[in-house]
Amino acid sequence: MTELSREINDAVGAIRKTTDMIPQVAIILGTGLGRLVQSIDIKATISYKEIPNFPLSTVESHEGRLIFGYLSGKSVVCMQGRFHYYEGYGMKEVTFPVRVMKKLGADILIVSNATGGLNPLFERGDVMLITDHINFLPENPLRGKNDESLGPRFPDMLEVYSRDFIKLAEGVALQEKIPVRKGVYISLQGPCFETPAEYRMLRILGADAVGMSTVPEAIAARHMGMKVLGISIITDMGLPDIQEPVSHEIVIKAAEEAEPKLTKLVTAFVKAL
Ligand code: HPA
Repeated sequence: MTELSREINDAVGAIRKTTDMIPQVAIILGTGLGRLVQSIDIKATISYKEIPNFPLSTVESHEGRLIFGYLSGKSVVCMQGRFHYYEGYGMKEVTFPVRVMKKLGADILIVSNATGGLNPLFERGDVMLITDHINFLPENPLRGKNDESLGPRFPDMLEVYSRDFIKLAEGVALQEKIPVRKGVYISLQGPCFETPAEYRMLRILGADAVGMSTVPEAIAARHMGMKVLGISIITDMGLPDIQEPVSHEIVIKAAEEAEPKLTKLVTAFVKAL
C-alpha cells in the first residue's frame, strides 16, 4: 500500500468513528459560498482538525469542516472550506479531501468557486457552469509516484466536467429560472489578482473565467473516476480595458450575494440526479 493510500485510510477510519454515512455526492464550497450548508439536513459535522492528515484552512472566510447529511433526500458530504495552493499547501494536500470523500463512497463531485469573469458578455453575480478547464497552476496534483489503486498513471482529461451533468444542470436551471452561463475556467496560483495584461492574455488563451482553485480537485476526482459538476460564481470582471479594483472583500461580498442562486441550483441538481 502506498503512503497516500495509508493516509486516506487513516482519515476515513477517523471519520468512521463519528459517522457511518455513505455519501453519494461530495460537495466543495468556494469562497463566500458556504451557506448552501443551511439547506443540508445535517447528521454529522467533523472539524478538519479532527481528521488525521487533513490540512487546516487558513483563509478566514472558510469554515474548515466536513458536513454529512441529506440534500434533496440524497446523502452528501460537504467541505465547508477548501485548500488553495496559494496558502502554501502542496497539491497532494489540496486534493487530499477529494480522495477521502471518494473513499467514503462519493462517486460524484460538485465543486464551486468564486471567479473573475473574462468573457465580456458576463456580469458580476452570474452563475457559470464549467465546461472545461485550463491548468495554469505551476504543478499537477498527479505528479510523482502513481497509486494504481486510486487511478491510472495517465488519465485522459477529455471530459473533466461531465457533459451529462452540464445538460442536467442547464435543465434544472431553466426550471428554477436561474440564468446560467457556460465557459472555460482557468486556474492561476494567485494570491494576487491579475494585471490588466494578464486578464487580456487569459482571455486570448481561451478562458471565460479565472480563479485560484478547483482545477486540482477536478483532476484528482477524474483520476479516481468521479463524475464532476463545476460551478463558478462571477464575483468581478477582469476586463483589461475597464479596470475596477478587486479585493478579497469584494469577492466575498459578490459571492455571498449570488449564493442563493448556487444553493437553489445545487439543491435542484442533486434532486434530479
Ligand atoms: N482573479 C483570480 N481569482 C479570482 C478572481 C479574479 O479576478 N475573482 C475571484 N477569484
